[in-house]
Amino acid sequence: MSKKILITGSNGLLGQKIVHALLHLNAGKQPIGKCVWPKVSGIKIIAASKGENRMVEKLGYEYEQLDICDKQQVETVLQKHTPDVVINTAAMTNVDACETQKEECWRTNVIAVQNLVDALKSKGQSQAPNFEPLFIHLSTDFIFDGEAGPYKEDDTPNPLSYYALSKYESEKIIQNSKIKWTILRTIIVYGIADNMSRSNIVLWAKEALTKGQKINVVDDQFRAPTLSEDLAQGCILAALKGATGIYNISGKDIMSILELVYCIADFWKLDKSGVTPIKSHTLNQAAKRPPRTGFILDKAIRDLGYTPFSFTEGLAILDKQLKK
Ligand SMILES: NC(=O)c1ccc[n+]([C@@H]2O[C@H](COP(=O)([O-])OP(=O)(O)OC[C@H]3O[C@@H](n4cnc5c(N)ncnc54)[C@H](OP(=O)(O)O)[C@@H]3O)[C@@H](O)[C@H]2O)c1
Repeated sequence: MSKKILITGSNGLLGQKIVHALLHLNAGKQPIGKCVWPKVSGIKIIAASKGENRMVEKLGYEYEQLDICDKQQVETVLQKHTPDVVINTAAMTNVDACETQKEECWRTNVIAVQNLVDALKSKGQSQAPNFEPLFIHLSTDFIFDGEAGPYKEDDTPNPLSYYALSKYESEKIIQNSKIKWTILRTIIVYGIADNMSRSNIVLWAKEALTKGQKINVVDDQFRAPTLSEDLAQGCILAALKGATGIYNISGKDIMSILELVYCIADFWKLDKSGVTPIKSHTLNQAAKRPPRTGFILDKAIRDLGYTPFSFTEGLAILDKQLKK
C-alpha cells in the first residue's frame, strides 16, 4: 500500500505530528501511538504551509509553500502532486481572534476549504475515471453548544462563536460536495512542535505553575484534552484505511479545565496554591465557549482502530519530548 499524502498547515502542531508519524512509518518504525499501525512503505509525503517550512527535520518529504486562501495556488499545487489524500489541518485556530477578525477567519476556515474542495473536484475529473482523492478535514467540538456533552458524531451542532460557525460552515461545504471526504472533530490539542506559532493549554499552565505565577482557571468548562500525536494517529488511520464520514478523535478523559491544570501540577509536582478557580462569565473573552463538550469515541475505536492515551500518559510523552 503506497499513497501520496498532502498535508496543509504542516507548520502547525498537528501538521508537524502527521509528517513525523508518516516519516516513521516510511522508515519501518512505530510512530508514537497505542494503535496497531498499518504496515506501509513508500508513502509520498507533501508538507504544505503558509510561509517557510518551520520543521527542523527537512528530509524524507517535499515542502510546498501554500496559502490555502489563494485559489490559484491551491489548484497549482494539487495539480502538480495529484495526491491520493489531502489532510487539511490549516486553519485560523485562535478562537478570540476569529471573533474580532471575522473576515480573515471566514477566508481561512471557509473559503479556503471551498478552494480545496473545488481543486479536488476538478482534479478527480482529470484523472482516470476511478481515481477519487480523499479529503480529510479537521473540525472541532466547538460546533456544539456544550449543553449536552459528551457528543456523538450525529448530534446536532449549534455553534456559539464565529470560529465555531466557520468550522461548521466548512463541514457543510464538504458534506454537500461530490468529493470523497472525512471530517475528524477534535478537542483542545496539546503537545510540542518546532517553532510553534501558538502555545496550548498544557504548555501554558506548566510554564505558569513552574514560574509560580498566579493564574485564574475556569471550573465550569469540561473538555477531553487531545495529545497531538493521538490526533495525528486518527488522521493517518483514516487516510490509510480510506475511511469516510465523520469521526470523533479526541483524548478519552473528560475533565474541567481546573482539573486539567491540577493534573498538570500533580504530574510535574508543581505548587497549585496560585491557581484560583473562576467561572467563565468573569473572563470577558471575545468568543463564547461551550460549557461541556467531550466526545464519545466508539466509532473511531471500532472503525479506525483509534487508541488514545490517557491524559497522564500524554503528559508523560510530552515530558520526554520537553527533556530532549
Ligand atoms: N488546537 C486545538 O485546540 C484545536 C481544537 C479543535 C480543533 N482544532 C482543529 O485542528 C486543526 C489543527 O489545529 P492545530 O492545533 O494544529 O493548529 P495550529 O497549530 O494553529 O496550526 C494551524 C496551521 O495552519 C497554518 N495556516 C493558517 N492559515 C493558513 C493558510 N491560509 N494557508 C496555509 N496554512 C495556514 C498556520 O500557519 P502559521 O503557523 O504560519 O500561522 C498553522 O501552522 C485545525 O483545523 C483546528 O481548527 C484544533
